[in-house]
Amino acid sequence: MTHQKRKTLRNWLLFIIAMVVVFFLGLLASSITERKAEAMFVYSPEVEIGDFEPRNAVWGENFPMEYETYKKTSDSSYKSKYNGNSMIDMLEVDPRLVVLWAGYGFSKDYKQGRGHSYAVIDARNTLRTGGPLKDDEGPMPTTCWTCKSPDVPRVMNDGGVAEFYMGKWARLGSEIVNPIGCGDCHDSKTMNLKITRPALVEAFERRGMDINEATHQEMRSLVCAQCHVEYYFNKTIVEGSAYLTFPWDYGTSVEEMEKYYDDIEFKDWTHKVSRAPMLKAQHPGYEVYLTGVHADRGVSCADCHMPYISEGGQKFTDHHIQSPLNNIANSCQVCHREETQKLIDNVYERQDQIIGNRDKLEELIVRAHVEAKFAWDNGATEEQMKDILQGIRHSQWRWDYAAASHGGSFHSPVETSRVVSTGITIAQETRIKLARLLADLGHNQAIPYPDISTKAKAQEFIGMDAEKLKSEKEVFLQTIVPEWVKIAEERENGWSVKYL
Ligand code: HEC
Ligand code: HEC
Ligand code: HEC
Ligand code: HEC
Repeated sequence: MTHQKRKTLRNWLLFIIAMVVVFFLGLLASSITERKAEAMFVYSPEVEIGDFEPRNAVWGENFPMEYETYKKTSDSSYKSKYNGNSMIDMLEVDPRLVVLWAGYGFSKDYKQGRGHSYAVIDARNTLRTGGPLKDDEGPMPTTCWTCKSPDVPRVMNDGGVAEFYMGKWARLGSEIVNPIGCGDCHDSKTMNLKITRPALVEAFERRGMDINEATHQEMRSLVCAQCHVEYYFNKTIVEGSAYLTFPWDYGTSVEEMEKYYDDIEFKDWTHKVSRAPMLKAQHPGYEVYLTGVHADRGVSCADCHMPYISEGGQKFTDHHIQSPLNNIANSCQVCHREETQKLIDNVYERQDQIIGNRDKLEELIVRAHVEAKFAWDNGATEEQMKDILQGIRHSQWRWDYAAASHGGSFHSPVETSRVVSTGITIAQETRIKLARLLADLGHNQAIPYPDISTKAKAQEFIGMDAEKLKSEKEVFLQTIVPEWVKIAEERENGWSVKYL
């Protein structure tokens, strides 16, 4: 080999080595910027998605990976110690709930929540929505549809927000058919996260805050806060409208929301046993989460419930929203180095301790309801009962706030324990007042605890005809629901999908 040839070869070798180094540096840089790039990913759309497209499958044409994982929310096989996605009849598991909610829909039927893809079916099936045979029949207002479907923003856009909240639930049965999905959380043009529910925007406005200023990380929780929150139906905003409203004007703590309700003397219902003016905590999941250490460190709902996953070399957001305990590796171990079992134990320890105390509170409140009834039956006056009924209202509100904020015992164990223990204090004080009143009325013996050992016995105790409710539901499911489905199919068949 001549000197010249050797030199050329060496130059080539140097060049190739340099190229390899540059290539790997490039890879490194790209993996670093990947997270950023995810926010403005590129894709070639297959179809044009309209502004209020409610059909998840249509979005799925453009985003198959997100859609395929979304579809897994129809899996109902996972059970953790207290949660998971299988359908558990909570009234059967804990018949005391029937007494706590006597006179309110939840005493008829209450099942553990399942995945988002069941939202519409479960709303039709629950005994709470009754068996309406006409549009203006049934126990529930239209407002109950608000957190169930991407058809909601569509119908609100077509007919107005206050109008959406008017009339009975059955009125929109043929309109609200697609379960919670893409259109609830995304802008169809940019795929940015989007708030589609006016109640959240309005709650921010009333507190002098602008939700449009939320950071990207906050949006990863706020999309969930459209539905996983405490709310009530405000009948004073627009005549004839059960206007969905979040009671956040003073703040989102248990006391601040209670003050809001007390100030306007709002009650969800009058208790059938004790006649107390009750509050039903709906599901203050977001509010409780805000008080926890993860929220404090900027960890969002999506970080745990929608972690990034990789499939076929592509990284994307897992849209199988579920209990993170079914997916510790992606959900927790991104940040925590502990073993899977250790992390599960951490969650269960917190849940065991809180649920143990919550259980005690529950029994105290059942007793208070029964004792209050006994007092009424023995001639107690409104004046004598006033404070006692307020005590029942406040203690049960705390119990429900802790029980209905699904995941709260983990999301914020300290706050949830505090709420339960203040509930216990109020319930005890109330029962002391009851004991004094009963003594005044000539009774100093313990009031017998009713036999509510099964759901059926508890429903009988509160005077509910469960069989009648079931047979009405059967008729409704067989006659009305198929009509709703047919009308919806005809409407959607009329919408053309534009392939690009
Ligand atoms: C740090 C991780 C983490 C964050 C952040 C988080 N969660 Fe959770 N969440 C959990 C865990 C763990 C559970 C308990 C699951 C179990 O018991 O199976 C849970 C339970 C739940 C449940 C009940 C699940 C079921 O199977 O019934 C819901 C609903 C929920 N979370 C919603 C939210 C919402 C909404 C937010 C934000 C406001 C949020 N979570 C933030 C980890 C998290
Ligand atoms: C449009 C309203 C709505 C939005 C938005 C929403 N949810 Fe839900 N979520 C529901 C309803 C309703 C259910 C109960 C469905 C059922 O049981 O049929 C539910 C159920 C769940 C469950 C229980 C699933 C299971 O498998 O046990 C979890 C966990 C959950 N949601 C987390 C979230 C998180 C996290 C977000 C935000 C990224 C979110 N949700 C956004 C309404 C909503
Ligand atoms: C409950 C709210 C919610 C629903 C419902 C939802 N998404 Fe998402 N989606 C999110 C969140 C949160 C992210 C993460 C966004 C971010 O951090 O920028 C996301 C990210 C995405 C992205 C960006 C790429 C990625 O994977 O990170 C696409 C595309 C997407 N979703 C498509 C869909 C489709 C298609 C559906 C319906 C099948 C859907 N989403 C339903 C909340 C939702
Ligand atoms: C995005 C990062 C992140 C994710 C994801 C995450 N955590 Fe955490 N976690 C934190 C931070 C930060 C703290 C605060 C403690 C600290 O700063 O060391 C914390 C604290 C905790 C604590 C102690 C606080 C307490 O409540 O007593 C537990 C337990 C915990 N995490 C469990 C989990 C579990 C289980 C999951 C998955 C469901 C999870 N974390 C997901 C970042 C995360």
